[in-house]
Amino acid sequence: VAGCGGSSTTSSDAKEIKVGGNLELTGGVATFGNSVANGVKLAFKEVNAAGGVLGKQLVFIAADNKSEPSESTNAITKLITKDKVVAVIGAVASTNTLAAVQVAQDNKIPLITPTSTNPRVTVENGKVREWVFRSCFIDPFQGSVMANFASKSLNAKTAAIYTDNSSDYSKGLTEVFEQTFTKNGGKIVAKEAFLQKDQDFKAALTKIKAANPDVIFIPAYYEEVGKIVKQARELGITVPLLGADGWDSPKLVEIAGAAALNNVYFSNHYSPEDKDPRVVKFVEAYKKEYGQVPDALAALGYDAAMLLVDAIKRAGSAEPAKIKDALAQTKNLQLVSGVISLDANHNPVKSAAIIELKDGKQIFKEKINP
Ligand code: PHE
Repeated sequence: VAGCGGSSTTSSDAKEIKVGGNLELTGGVATFGNSVANGVKLAFKEVNAAGGVLGKQLVFIAADNKSEPSESTNAITKLITKDKVVAVIGAVASTNTLAAVQVAQDNKIPLITPTSTNPRVTVENGKVREWVFRSCFIDPFQGSVMANFASKSLNAKTAAIYTDNSSDYSKGLTEVFEQTFTKNGGKIVAKEAFLQKDQDFKAALTKIKAANPDVIFIPAYYEEVGKIVKQARELGITVPLLGADGWDSPKLVEIAGAAALNNVYFSNHYSPEDKDPRVVKFVEAYKKEYGQVPDALAALGYDAAMLLVDAIKRAGSAEPAKIKDALAQTKNLQLVSGVISLDANHNPVKSAAIIELKDGKQIFKEKINP
């Protein structure tokens, strides 16, 4: 009946704003999902304490995708159809986000991945996915940062690449690193591959060692990277080992052992050692809340939550379609991991940090601007 406003309770006129988290809370990359969840919760807690958004409190509903693509499809479906969230944060790993994007598109619910760096997450066959956004840089940037670091800072002339063939992230980074390193005049002297959950990497590492590369690039996640680094050092491979954001986990030291983690460098989204006042404030608040130093995933989770809050404010509404339009217009939003302006492909252009490991301890080496 016309004129009876308020009789229906759609998600947008409820007293709370429900936001979903499709996250890797258990399984192969569980530290990633838990850090993102902590970052999001801290952001929501701060916003709620300051009165909420549009006078409403934010509620975060996290669903565990178990670090598996099929479970990621299930998790986002449940969050949208059963919990009736107005937006979804996650997944973390690119392969798991790629398994969720179509569900967001079909149901017309905005999806923000805090961390998935594969370009195909937001753009498929040259066409931007209307409902999908991210708060991190993408792998063409990250891969070239590491290839340039190898050529220019380490003076490497030859490199080997060891790829996780079960990950879109790893395959994408392999391509970019190879292209950039070759363009710099370098030569790829060995290419090997493995799969997630593999345990024994020595056969491939022996082949890599025989090729005698100046550096080895391993674009993968901490669980396998930890074992690879340990086994590489056991085989007497002493050259620099290079990685990317997937190395950022406290578990890496547990698995590889501190002694193996020397002469190691990886690209990341931020460093908790950065003296930028926004970083300092965030690190303090996070430590107070959780008693630990926030990794890059925690910072990106916090930033994805703030990106969403900013969009809801500017939209003046928690309706998914309005949030989506406001997200696409995001400009000069100052966050912990940098300043976010989303481009036509829904990607921010942000700087990267290069982290060196010394006895397993992270040292902030340099910041690279795009
Ligand atoms: N970039 C990774 C991916 O796309 C996820 C990741 C981000 C992991 C940040 C660790 C830190 O799969």
